[in-house]
Amino acid sequence: MKQQTIDQAKAVMIKNDRGYYTVPTHGLYPFQWNWDSALSALGFAHFDEARAWTELETLFAHQWTDGMVPHIIFHEMDDGYFPGPEVWATGKTVPTSGITQPPVAGFAALRIFERAKDKKLATEKARALLPRIHAWHKWFFANRDPHGTGLVAIIHPWESGRDNSVDWDEAFERIPTKGVSPFKRRDTNHANPDHRPTDEQYKRYIWLVQRFRSLDWDNTKLHDASPFQIVDPGFNAILIRACVDLAQLADKLGEKEIAAQSRAMASKGLAAMESLWSDEHCQYLCLDRAVGTLINSPSIGGLLAAFAPISKSRARLLAERISTLSKSCSYLVPSHPPSAPQFEPLRYWRGPVWLIVNYMIADGLLIAGETKMASRIKRDCLELINKSGFAEYYGPINGEPCGGGSFTWTAAMVIEILEAP
Ligand code: DGY
Repeated sequence: MKQQTIDQAKAVMIKNDRGYYTVPTHGLYPFQWNWDSALSALGFAHFDEARAWTELETLFAHQWTDGMVPHIIFHEMDDGYFPGPEVWATGKTVPTSGITQPPVAGFAALRIFERAKDKKLATEKARALLPRIHAWHKWFFANRDPHGTGLVAIIHPWESGRDNSVDWDEAFERIPTKGVSPFKRRDTNHANPDHRPTDEQYKRYIWLVQRFRSLDWDNTKLHDASPFQIVDPGFNAILIRACVDLAQLADKLGEKEIAAQSRAMASKGLAAMESLWSDEHCQYLCLDRAVGTLINSPSIGGLLAAFAPISKSRARLLAERISTLSKSCSYLVPSHPPSAPQFEPLRYWRGPVWLIVNYMIADGLLIAGETKMASRIKRDCLELINKSGFAEYYGPINGEPCGGGSFTWTAAMVIEILEAP
């Protein structure tokens, strides 16, 4: 059974492999996506280490000169996706989008390095990637934390990966829809529109793209110019964890300065995370930086904080919070609490379960000693794929497969959960 599932997962990854990068899924997402790639590399590493490194190498080959790693790289044209390169107009030779995504690459690089059987290859590849990943981390703090708070803001919901989270609803009211050039969505040709963001949300996504484009994608200006500036605990947890992991990788490679700088960024971030804690909700919350208040939306962003090396007592409380959530659904971890009025069980990030987030939460909880909850979450992941295949995401109540099918990162997470030591 285990081997059969691994073989099926491998087949999904191989199907989406384009040689030097993988697409998240055929049709809906026909290019290379940043965090999809880094997490997929973890899956490849179990059966083809060289291919895993190539995935990360390709991603970083398209890093901008200022250090940013874009969220999409448009390797080959495909008009089945909107917004394509002509909308972004970032002027890169191989076109890219102009925003970024959760920086999981530092975490993935360390994990792949530590488990590598081919140490020579791993050392060579990690040595080349290390300064690039570090430059990206520094870019975040320089450009997305201009006042040095220790935490970075996302300036577009797509940067978080949690595109239509309830977390952004209020801040999104501030984004105009007037002046948005007419467009035709393509995502709804590939996936059930009821599982996707709404047209109103899409208009605002595109308004922000147009705003940043009008500033020539100059990252020194975009943060302050964006009416959407959200400090997301999940996003920051990924960045903090990536800095901690990169410091370890740097130690192994004898790069003392990168190690020290990475540790300094991580400790400052970890201390600042405390300002996002809510006793009322027993979890972390997003901060709306544009207005300076915490957002009263206890979503999965605040649980993903477990991925960072937060204190054991905070990890304990997050495990308790997830345990409370388990009473209102069959599969953990719902991206929004089923008891909340905004909960939509099948609509993208407003309720469904995502294996990548589950994996990161479980990983952090395990390190913090919350083994019972970590195992429960991983068990739910396997039950979901056995019941509903390698979907993009799943309904937390009935386990229904949602969004795109044959999804690369879902397959990668399954291999990782089943094969990891
Ligand atoms: C999409 O197209 O839905 C993506 O999440 C944006 O990158």
